[in-house]
Amino acid sequence: MKNFWKELHKPITLLAPMDDITDFVFREIISGIAKPDVLYTEFTCADALCSKGKEKVLENLKFSEKQRPIVAQIWGSNVENFGKAAELIEQLGFDGIDINMGCPDKSVLAKNAGAALIGNLELAGELISAIKKTNINIPLSVKTRIADTSEKTEEWVSFLLKQNIQALIIHGRTRKQMYRGLADWEQIGKAVKLRNKINKEIVLVGNGDVKSYKEVLEKHTKYGVDGVMIGRGVLSDPWIFEKNETPAVRTPEEGIKLLLRHAELYHKTWGETKNFQNVKKFVKMYVNNFRGAEQLRRELMLCKDHACFMEVSKNFLASVSSISPTA
Ligand SMILES: Cc1cc2nc3c(=O)[nH]c(=O)nc-3n(C[C@H](O)[C@H](O)[C@H](O)COP(=O)(O)O)c2cc1C
Repeated sequence: MKNFWKELHKPITLLAPMDDITDFVFREIISGIAKPDVLYTEFTCADALCSKGKEKVLENLKFSEKQRPIVAQIWGSNVENFGKAAELIEQLGFDGIDINMGCPDKSVLAKNAGAALIGNLELAGELISAIKKTNINIPLSVKTRIADTSEKTEEWVSFLLKQNIQALIIHGRTRKQMYRGLADWEQIGKAVKLRNKINKEIVLVGNGDVKSYKEVLEKHTKYGVDGVMIGRGVLSDPWIFEKNETPAVRTPEEGIKLLLRHAELYHKTWGETKNFQNVKKFVKMYVNNFRGAEQLRRELMLCKDHACFMEVSKNFLASVSSISPTA
């Protein structure tokens, strides 16, 4: 098996899968400025990948060479479709495949998938085996959450570590917590100890609330994780994956240029197939921490189309060289 996980320098940094955020365009922009060691796609429904309408779903799985190594994440609970989806993902050229066993969304739980699999050893085991039986030549990872109690987490994590998987990513929140409270890194530390006892070959990654590269190093040292996955942290600092403990202060100009690049690539990639308004989700990520940022964000939010968005950004850029960052 071509196991890219084994070739990476530790601590490994990973871009978390985030539905409707980490699309092709987002990954392309992040890869171009401060690339994480591993990128993940948004989660994709295995059943949809095996359906007649799969062409639409395949758009989610578009990637470029620049984004390697890249892992495709799937969710679902249909064993047969998991095998088929895994074969398709290998054919598409992905470096790895991941099973989502952590999503707390009602619509996902209703299908016995995502976080509903936590503690459902029988079905979780069958889904993993269905992929392994296909003899695909790419590594398999599982991304999950901790369980409701320490004992249940130990049982769940031990079970996963006994499966034929190459990496395990643990978000230190329970299904019930959704995104509330803090991630429990002590539980992640305990999982590392279990991994050391059960199967040292499995790469163990922690996830939850990490907001800087300095914290990546701290989590690696304190809890022994091989890597750290970052989600929301990249939305407040697009350069977060730069391997620098004291990151440079970015100028307003740098942020706005990136916003322009993001909006342009979004338009070129998705055209009319995705709503232009989605681009507004990324404004705060690039336009912050300088005088006039709030006003600019307000103006951008009023735009009704791509042309307006580009014009407002460009006009601001033309006047921006005199503005200094405030943080
Ligand atoms: C908007 C949003 C979408 C998400 N979509 C996914 C997803 O598709 N698959 C997944 O495994 N986790 C998903 N997550 C969870 C993140 O991957 C990550 O586990 C979580 O945000 C905790 O990490 P963080 O504190 O670094 O953000 C999503 C989180 C957010 C905020």
